Amino acid sequence: MTDRASLANTVAVILAAGQGTRMKSALPKVLHSIAGRPLVFFPVRAALDAGCSDVIVVVGHGRGDVEAYLRATFGDRVKTAIQAEQRGTGDAARAALVAIRPDAQRVLVFYGDVPLLTADDLASVAHKLDTEPDATLALATCSLAEPFGYGRVLRNASGYVVAIREQKDLASDDERACTEINPGIYASSLSFLRDALACLKPNNAQGELYLTDIVAYAAGLGLRVAAVPSRADVLAGVNDRRQLIEAETTLLGRIADRWRLAGVTVRAGARIDDGVELAPDAVIETGVVLRGKTRVGPGAIIDVGCVLTNVVVDDGAVLKPYSVLTDATVGARAQVGPFSHLRPDSHIAEDSHVGNFVELKKTTMAKGAKANHLAYLGDGIIGEGANIGAGTIFCNYDGFLKHTTVIEKGAFIGSDSQLVAPVTVGEGAYVGTGTTVTRDVPKDALALSRVRQENKEGYAAKLRAKLKAAKAAQPR
Ligand code: UD1
Ligand code: CA
Repeated sequence: MTDRASLANTVAVILAAGQGTRMKSALPKVLHSIAGRPLVFFPVRAALDAGCSDVIVVVGHGRGDVEAYLRATFGDRVKTAIQAEQRGTGDAARAALVAIRPDAQRVLVFYGDVPLLTADDLASVAHKLDTEPDATLALATCSLAEPFGYGRVLRNASGYVVAIREQKDLASDDERACTEINPGIYASSLSFLRDALACLKPNNAQGELYLTDIVAYAAGLGLRVAAVPSRADVLAGVNDRRQLIEAETTLLGRIADRWRLAGVTVRAGARIDDGVELAPDAVIETGVVLRGKTRVGPGAIIDVGCVLTNVVVDDGAVLKPYSVLTDATVGARAQVGPFSHLRPDSHIAEDSHVGNFVELKKTTMAKGAKANHLAYLGDGIIGEGANIGAGTIFCNYDGFLKHTTVIEKGAFIGSDSQLVAPVTVGEGAYVGTGTTVTRDVPKDALALSRVRQENKEGYAAKLRAKLKAAKAAQPR
């Protein structure tokens, strides 16, 4: 792991001002979601994890939204610098210079569209600057069988790195054949960076100021550029949506493996976003999607196809297939589904049951309460051990306002009942099947509103004979 203290006087500069034209999107590229977080989250977290003393993100395109996200997520741990016009990565790095403390020992510059990079990747480039004799600039490199689109690392006859050539500027077959690419992590002193950036010229196919030209600048002065080889898959840049999904697949695979090694059974085909927490012996079946701040407790089972967003599931709870839960909590040993829908602000306590085709919205169920089949329970407070029969509806909305239904402890709501809120069913009361409850039901009372049953003996047989005769009399 990274030695955090060693990067204490290192400033991280993350370039995130570009539009991301190749995404073909109204959303700035670095806000596109990957494993449940905007792209830019990952490089920022890597810098913070590496222990960088300052993290500066260069913003430009869509900067209001990017800044708002960074502030909400990282607070004052991250500063921003503004690149008003996007004139290339070198120009973006220049825009950061004003925000860098003049006493910074070292600057790490990297890109905001590289979500797979980790604190260790940053630390190894920073350390190379210290350990390689006479190195003025250190940079990551890697070899790719298909290097198309990346800047190529050019070396001289002695093997020293002398330049980076962008795809559009490749000048010879030799350059095109080069498979050593620039993943884009650079470490140098602040003074070198400042001098090198000052000398950039837009002499290239795109007419931009390229950050990569600091390499040729160093080599031209006879200064040493040190290369840090890294694994090919870890530093992939995201420029279009195909690359977004490729990087996401790698990231989700890492996340799933981390939980597997921590004692969670995560089946193939489950998707666990960054930020989700799982306890040992939880089982996450195939097709499950866990998002946001979801937490799953020890031994809980999330069966096939469940989708959980910001849900807390306590120990030993079982979510049967295809249940959808959002901003909800599930108590220990509770059972949910199959096909249950817990909408925001629904909280079911330990040992409660919510069964198939039951929808909860802003409803709490106390310990051991049950609603096993076909119900809409909106704006409800359901007491301990209460039983809600099949087909029950809490009529919570009068067209203007929402009202609360209270079912007290141990009450029994017969099937196919409607509770017209606001209404309270007292402790231990019974509501007869098919009742429309419009007034409060006292403790231990029975509420009934249905019509008394009448049986007409022989009526059905007589009716059938009459209808049969009528049909026979019809012209063919
Ligand atoms: C860049 C490198 C390339 C490298 C690749 C690695 C340059 C010139 N090229 O190319 O050598 O192989 O990354 O992924 O640096 N940005 C700004 N302001 C700008 C332009 C870009 O802040 O004016 C930001 C973007 O938001 C993005 C990052 O810089 O996060 C990289 O820009 P991008 O256009 O994606 O560069 P690449 O073509 O991928
Ligand atoms: Ca890129």
